[in-house]
Amino acid sequence: MLNLRDMQYSDIAAVAKLEQSATEFPWSVKNFEDSLKANHKAWVFLNDAQQIYAFTIVQKVVDEAHLLNICVAPNAQGNGFGRQILEHVINYANTVSSVLIVLEVRSSNKRAQNLYMRAGFNEMSIRKGYYPAKDGREDAVLMGLDLDLLSLFSEK
Ligand SMILES: CC(C)(COP(=O)(O)OP(=O)(O)OC[C@H]1O[C@@H](n2cnc3c(N)ncnc32)[C@H](O)[C@@H]1OP(=O)(O)O)[C@@H](O)C(=O)NCCC(=O)NCCS
Repeated sequence: MLNLRDMQYSDIAAVAKLEQSATEFPWSVKNFEDSLKANHKAWVFLNDAQQIYAFTIVQKVVDEAHLLNICVAPNAQGNGFGRQILEHVINYANTVSSVLIVLEVRSSNKRAQNLYMRAGFNEMSIRKGYYPAKDGREDAVLMGLDLDLLSLFSEK
């Protein structure tokens, strides 16, 4: 069972540091502040010592949920937390009656793409040069999970 709570402004320093340790192009502190200001749904996940080891941020837009960020600390990766956090996001999206969850992921980030595909996401399109990269720009894969379709399968 995940130990989680809403992200607070006072968590941002720790969350930004965590993301810096996990990705090459992390959000800035201001990105996190803007996200909380915009009332995006943001959770932090705590270990037994009540330290943050993961977070996720979701933006609800009409009947869609946009997964803006998901991150697990490097020393906690590979233990199924990413998968459980994604399940939490899917449950949330269902609770607020979203019909679709969408997200962008770097074309080189096969690990995250694997995680999303296992959860039932499909590739919808490619956004050319969406991300900054070491050598210029990198494409984003736009992925989506149709929740109506998912509920049809899970009812069987
Ligand atoms: C992507 C991320 C959230 C996954 O979190 P995690 O806790 O490691 O994920 P899990 O342990 O639940 O593993 C989920 C799936 O990832 C893949 N995976 C896990 N460990 C892996 C490894 N060492 N190598 C390759 N794939 C791996 C597998 O497909 C796994 O599914 P399975 O083991 O059930 O077959 C995490 O790696 C992360 O925070 N990465 C940096 C930030 C990032 O890339 N976020 C996504 C932005 S779109």
